Amino acid sequence: MPSLETLRESFAIADHVTFEYGPGDLIFAQVDNAHASARLALYGAHVTAYQPKGQAPVIFTSQASRYEAGAAIRGGIPICWPWFAAHPSDSGKPSHGFARITPWTLAETQALPNGATQLRFDLSDNADSRALWPHAFGLSYTVTVGNSLMVDLAIHNREAEAITYTGALHSYFHVGDVRQIHIEGLDGLDYLDKVRGMNRFTQAGVVRFDQEVDRIYLSTTAETVLHDPVLERTVHVAKRGSHSTVVWNPWAEKSQAMADMMDAGYVSMVCIETANAAENAVNIPAGDTAHLGAEIWLA
Ligand code: BG6
Repeated sequence: MPSLETLRESFAIADHVTFEYGPGDLIFAQVDNAHASARLALYGAHVTAYQPKGQAPVIFTSQASRYEAGAAIRGGIPICWPWFAAHPSDSGKPSHGFARITPWTLAETQALPNGATQLRFDLSDNADSRALWPHAFGLSYTVTVGNSLMVDLAIHNREAEAITYTGALHSYFHVGDVRQIHIEGLDGLDYLDKVRGMNRFTQAGVVRFDQEVDRIYLSTTAETVLHDPVLERTVHVAKRGSHSTVVWNPWAEKSQAMADMMDAGYVSMVCIETANAAENAVNIPAGDTAHLGAEIWLA
């Protein structure tokens, strides 16, 4: 793990990127440019904040989140990889894979001509990852902070044979009141409902929230639009290389049961996840690179 001094010397950019210690003594990159601000932990290459100038925060991070080795930050954009949710055959392995609970290497920071800031984080297999998932890989995660927030995970298969992954860019959005929002873009899609025994249903109309929602919408590449009448805005989520969209809100009882959520935390968040889950698992041929990406902007 490089020191704060090394990171500052190699990667700080005036009027764009600084580095500091945050909770749990984790190192964060703080982005402030003409368009927006954002915050990223090197632990998990985890975006924990994004806020265009003059707007309320776009991303939700739990005030009760843990910031410690082995635990995932609750909120932001956890990178769930190389498996989504529980491991299919070994419940002793970490939920949502190991990428979100592993320190990544900051490889590059850049001020772009349009005033946006770009950061790239890398992660390759090592003895710890191979003990959990026996494959050689190279991940490269590019985050562009501007008028929109762009996140792109490039997944390079370094094996001599195909690999299969499931995963998600598990974005948590800050909302005025989840009971008043709705999500457009999922009408007519089949989904697996985790709240109802992973049975399959078909979405009719927009998605609204009056109880726990935990669904994998299948075989969709469509953009979703989150309508928030309290914050008087819409949040757009466009996807790349993603064939599932997961929508999650834990509601009251589960929020209370989660140590890293405030009891009423569920009211001000919703997850719309750019995913490849269940039957949308992705096969990457030997030597190939696949992308999983999202662009998020306000309108
Ligand atoms: C969602 C899942 O993607 O992540 C939920 O659909 C899960 O079932 C949620 O509860 C949070 O998972 P975790 O591992 O971060 O507590």
